[in-house]
Amino acid sequence: MEVLILPEPDDCAIAVADLFTEAIEAGARVLGLATGSSPLQVYAELIRRHRDDGLSFAHLSAFLLDEYVGLDRSHPASYDRFIREHFTDHIDLPAERVLGPDGGARDPRAEATRYDELIASEGPVDIQLLGIGTNGHIGFNEPSSSLASPVRVKTLTDQTRQDNARFFASLEEVPRHVITQGLGTIGTARQAVLIATGEHKAAAVAAAVEGPLSAMCPASVLQLHPRAVIVVDEAAASRLQLQDYYRQVRAHKDTVGRS
Ligand code: F6R
Repeated sequence: MEVLILPEPDDCAIAVADLFTEAIEAGARVLGLATGSSPLQVYAELIRRHRDDGLSFAHLSAFLLDEYVGLDRSHPASYDRFIREHFTDHIDLPAERVLGPDGGARDPRAEATRYDELIASEGPVDIQLLGIGTNGHIGFNEPSSSLASPVRVKTLTDQTRQDNARFFASLEEVPRHVITQGLGTIGTARQAVLIATGEHKAAAVAAAVEGPLSAMCPASVLQLHPRAVIVVDEAAASRLQLQDYYRQVRAHKDTVGRS
């Protein structure tokens, strides 16, 4: 696991955009995209690189992590709409290759299976962007999720519903169920990049990076991933015990074999 501690959220967004740019330039075919607040500055930076630097997404597909059950793609709070409004409508990635579970499906469990099979057949995801919930979830894999889970229907915790109520008119409107890529699904991505900023994420980041591998902190599954990068600002890093070590690793990254 590589931990990058950077001064401000802007710096984190640039670092993550750099990782995506490198992956695309190295031939990535499939992106994994997260929604929510954490990746917004990353998407803004990638849109800017598309516009100003000619970064092209024309040959790529994108898979979303999750979707609310009961919200069809036109709903203002659906993640399908979110990703199009905040990212993919502003780049040259073909609209029909932005793929996610259909929250409006009549049979959500069958839809989860369909989406799982789609990722298996069109994947693997080359680079997966992740945010982290204050309870340690990634995707919508709430605490107690199987570390090997496939795409499936999950029930949101009260905490996650409260955290996400800002995207809805009221807490009552936040759906109770979601379709989410499982922790096993996320683990199939070739590279995983988690971005977290702000003091409110510090406990979850510490549990994910330095706590035990445990279903109680679903993001701790990234400890098993061979290529996981955790990009955090000072505030989100504030509860990490090995902050100095992570900074030293970064400072001396290019000096291997020279000392
Ligand atoms: C969203 C997702 C979630 C969020 C997490 C953090 O697609 O999968 O895991 O990344 O809830 O949300 P924000 O970034 O809004 O704090």
